[in-house]
Amino acid sequence: MPNGKLDVISFCGSLRKGSYNGMVQRALPALAPEDMSITPAPPFAEFPLYNADIQNSTGFPPLVNTLAEAIRAADGVIFVTPEYNFTIPGGLKNALDWVSRLPNQPFAGKPIALQSASPGPVGGARVQYDMRKAMAFLDAFVLNKPEVFVGNCVAKFDEKTGELTDQATRDFIKQQLASFAKFIEHVRVKS
Ligand SMILES: Cc1cc2nc3c(=O)[nH]c(=O)nc-3n(C[C@H](O)[C@H](O)[C@H](O)COP(=O)(O)O)c2cc1C
Repeated sequence: MPNGKLDVISFCGSLRKGSYNGMVQRALPALAPEDMSITPAPPFAEFPLYNADIQNSTGFPPLVNTLAEAIRAADGVIFVTPEYNFTIPGGLKNALDWVSRLPNQPFAGKPIALQSASPGPVGGARVQYDMRKAMAFLDAFVLNKPEVFVGNCVAKFDEKTGELTDQATRDFIKQQLASFAKFIEHVRVKS
């Protein structure tokens, strides 16, 4: 909590440059309450596919440790992710699998907020329930509501700049981030 602000990190579950979820992720700092700073988590795109043989021979890759340290140091974590085949995109799931095997597992006790964007009408709702399952196993605490599903997302961004222009979506996200700030304090007091 440097400078008295809640220090939150964000993950984007999509690896592609033009990602709509990446556009949502980049909109977050401007929508956060005054007492919260939101910065991107260290990258996970170059993690090898999880294989216990790697862990048991050469150990955890340095990038995995870097990500785990950032999660441990954060007051909260926000995932902004697409839904792939009704579930968690492989790259993101691989990152979760790697950090989940570390001693002092970094998600334990961590406040989490979930967001998803999709060109489809359901806005990636189903991936969020699978994220909730994975986070339950990892002993994280996931904010229940408000939920953020950015459905039919293509029309909600400026196609040239990638800025999130849809006011209703900006307002939903603002409300979620304000609730998340309270939730982080609640988790802190209770634990
Ligand atoms: C492998 C794959 C599976 C997908 N499955 C779903 C799905 O289950 N539900 C959905 O709403 N969109 C699905 N889509 C479409 C994505 O929502 C769309 O490609 C979206 O733009 C990906 O997010 P991004 O823009 O952040 O990269 C899928 C796309 C890919 C590449």
